[in-house]
Amino acid sequence: MSLADAARTINATAYGYISSWALLTAAEQRVFDRLPAASSDLSDTYPDADLVDTWFHTLAASGLVEHESDGDTWSLTDDMAKLLSGDNSYADYLGGQIMQQMTPRLMSGSAEQNVLAQVLADPESRRGYEGWFADADEAHAYQSSQYAGSLGPAKALAAALPDPTGRVLDLGGGWGAIARAIAKRHGIDVDVVDFATVIDSAPPADSTVTFHDGNALDPSTWPTSTDSVRYDGAVLSYLFSSIPGSEHDRLLGALADRGVRWIAVHDFMVGGGTWAAAWSLQHAVFVPGHTSRSSDEVNAMLQRHGFTPVSTGPLVDEMTTLTVGVRSSTE
Ligand SMILES: C[S@@+](CC[C@H](N)C(=O)[O-])C[C@H]1O[C@@H](n2cnc3c(N)ncnc32)[C@H](O)[C@@H]1O
Repeated sequence: MSLADAARTINATAYGYISSWALLTAAEQRVFDRLPAASSDLSDTYPDADLVDTWFHTLAASGLVEHESDGDTWSLTDDMAKLLSGDNSYADYLGGQIMQQMTPRLMSGSAEQNVLAQVLADPESRRGYEGWFADADEAHAYQSSQYAGSLGPAKALAAALPDPTGRVLDLGGGWGAIARAIAKRHGIDVDVVDFATVIDSAPPADSTVTFHDGNALDPSTWPTSTDSVRYDGAVLSYLFSSIPGSEHDRLLGALADRGVRWIAVHDFMVGGGTWAAAWSLQHAVFVPGHTSRSSDEVNAMLQRHGFTPVSTGPLVDEMTTLTVGVRSSTE
């Protein structure tokens, strides 16, 4: 078995629980009875269409539902419909005994609320990273594992950049796994912007990496406005998954206004592998206004702001996509 096959074997089991959660929730909600349907057809029960699409993309990646050629309608094959819809179906068993009884007892020892079901009904209840990381202990626990997880992909991301020639801005850069890799590989300085609870506990870095307490959604908190710093490029790694979708375009526009030559967007993108939608779904349940994007959609946004996509491809196997946009004029 190769190293890549070993990683895939681990991932198939490690992340299988997300697909399972998506299926068991669909069974519990009896949503299969309503197919074929587009997410907009389900808005009486689920007001956030993007959340529904992310949920169904996760089911589709496991072969449970199909996306019709109109790009909107989700459906079941005849055999799936026999098993998953109607009264006393297999879905009733999955949504009843497995979702409501077995899973909570095995996973947490008590019957807790299903967050996906709750957020589907009430998308406004999501608190996002800022609310979550108001608790410094939560931020520390999250970042220590995120940092470990990003060290490997960081090297590949740094290698894929369009030869940085100056300072780089890493928005939502966490403990700086990616910033450190870029600084080391290209011999340049990198500024990381993230919440105070995150940067305050980051492991020490050498002088090439600087941490700034700020908000990616508020350019006035970026170092550019206070220090008149010019950046050659910007990195957004998992930031699109972590902020409302309505902010994506504005954020790229703000970076364009600050004269960056290139932008690298690394994230879970719909169609970007077996686990891409599943990981989007994990973010979608706690990030307010989360919007899943395909790499085509991200590239179209980059183009709107004058950046020509020069490379788009997988970074973490079956999970993430890195797309890089470059422009010739920064005026
Ligand atoms: C999944 S982590 C990714 C961290 C790092 N970019 C990486 O690739 O390892 C998402 C990061 O985005 C940060 N984040 C989310 N919303 C943010 C915002 N509005 N402003 C600054 N950082 C934000 C979180 O605190 C977290 O560190």
